Amino acid sequence: MIGIRRESGLMKKDGGGGVQSLRRSRIAAAIFVGILLGCVFAFFYPDGFFVSSPPIHHSVANSDSEVITSSCESSERINMLKSEFVAASEKNAELKRQIRELTEKLQLAEQGKDNAQKEVLVLGEQKKAGPFGTVKGLRTNPTVVPDESVNPRLAKILEKVAINRELIVTLANSNVKEMLEMWFTNIKRVGLPNYLVYALDEEIASLCESRNVPVYQRDPDEVKRETDKNFESVARTEGNHAVSGLKFRILREFLQLGYSVLLSDVDIIYLQNPFEHLYRDSDVESMTDGHNNMTAYGYNDVFDEPSMGWARYAHTMRIWVYNSGFFYIRPTIPSIELLDRVAGRLARENAWDQAVFNEELFFPSHPCYEGLHASRRTMDYYLFMNSKVLFKTVRKDAKLSQLKPVIVHVNYHPDKLPRMEAVVDYYVNGKKDALDPFPDGSQ
Ligand SMILES: *[C@@H]1O[C@H](CO)[C@@H](O)[C@H](O)[C@H]1NC(C)=O
Repeated sequence: MIGIRRESGLMKKDGGGGVQSLRRSRIAAAIFVGILLGCVFAFFYPDGFFVSSPPIHHSVANSDSEVITSSCESSERINMLKSEFVAASEKNAELKRQIRELTEKLQLAEQGKDNAQKEVLVLGEQKKAGPFGTVKGLRTNPTVVPDESVNPRLAKILEKVAINRELIVTLANSNVKEMLEMWFTNIKRVGLPNYLVYALDEEIASLCESRNVPVYQRDPDEVKRETDKNFESVARTEGNHAVSGLKFRILREFLQLGYSVLLSDVDIIYLQNPFEHLYRDSDVESMTDGHNNMTAYGYNDVFDEPSMGWARYAHTMRIWVYNSGFFYIRPTIPSIELLDRVAGRLARENAWDQAVFNEELFFPSHPCYEGLHASRRTMDYYLFMNSKVLFKTVRKDAKLSQLKPVIVHVNYHPDKLPRMEAVVDYYVNGKKDALDPFPDGSQ
C-alpha cells in the first residue's frame, strides 16, 4: 500500500516538473524503485498482497522463517502436517477405543470388587474363626431399601395397614368368595389389623369395601407391561391354581416397597396372632406339608439297592415340601430372587407353583445350574397346622387336641368350606365333636 501510494505521489509530482532530462532520469529512477519494490514485495508476499494466508501458514511462518522461502515448500509442509494430523487423529481414535475398553474392564472389575465389598459389609469385617462350637453363619440377610416408585398407590395403603412393616396378604377372585369371608372374619376375631386382600376382580373389591376389609385392587391403567395383560385375563377367569402362580409376581411389589409379607391362601383359619410366633431370622419362613418331625424338618431316607452288596444302602436327604400357600417372606435380595425365579419358571413351564417354589428354594448349585442362596425356616407344624396333621393325628390325641394352633390350613382336603367351619366350631365355639364327622382323607 505504502509503495503504491508513494509511486502515485511521484507520478503527480512528476506531472508538474520542468527540465526534460531530469524528468526522464527521475522517471527511470521511479521505474527502478517501482521494480525494486515489486521484487521486494514479491519476495516477502509470494501469495499476493491482498490474499489472506491460511491460519496454519501464519502460525508456521511465525515460528519458522524457512517455511516462507517458497510457496511450494510451505504447501508441502502443510500437506505433511495435514497427514500428520490425520495420522494423529487416527491414533487418537484408537487410543480412545482402548481407553473405553479399559474403562469397561475396570468397571467390571470394580463391580466384582463391589460385590466382594458388599459381601464384606454384610458379613462384617473379615475375622478369624472363633473357638469350637462358637461360630455361626449368616442367615438373616439385610432388607432392601424401600422403593415407593414401584407402586405409589399400594405404598400409601401399606403405610396405613402394615404394623412394623409387616402384614398378611391374600389374593382372591370371586371363585373363592365364601372362603375369603371366613378368612377375614376369623382374622378380625383374632384382632389383627395388618392384613390386606389383593382383589383380582371388582366383586371381591366391593365385598371387602362393604365389610371394611383392607383391600387393594389393581387399577387397569396401571397395567402397562405386556405380561400383565396375561395376568389380568388369568386373574379374572381362572380358579385357585392359576391364581397361585400370579402371587409371586404380585408379592415382588410388596417386598420392593420394603414390607415383610405373610402370604396366605384363603383356605386358612386364624386362631391366634401369627406375628407373635415368627422367628424373622430367615428369608423364607414357611409352613410345611409334613406331618411329623421327620417329614416336616428333614431326615435321612435310606435307599436300599441289594445288588450293590456291601454298599446296598444309599443315604438320601428328604423333607416334605414347604407349603407355598402360607409363608412369611422378608424383603431381601434372595427373597426377591426367589420370587423372580419362581414367576419366571411358571411363565415358561406348565408346572405346579408349589413344586417350583420348593425346587428353587432347595436344589443346590450344580453344573449348568446356579442354586438360590436363600435362608429358610420350617414353621412348627403344630402351630401352623395343615389339615392332615389335624385330622389324622391331633384330633385323636388327648394331649395334642388340647393345644390351640395359630392357624389351620385346609390344604389336604377338597371339602374346604365345611372343614373350615368345623375348625372354627372346634377351636373357637368349643364344640368338641365338630371334627368327628370328617374322614382322615377325602373319600
Ligand atoms: C419333635 O421336634 C420337637 C421340636 O424340635 C421336639 O421338641 C420334640 O421332642 C420332637 N418329637 C419327637 C417325637 O421327636
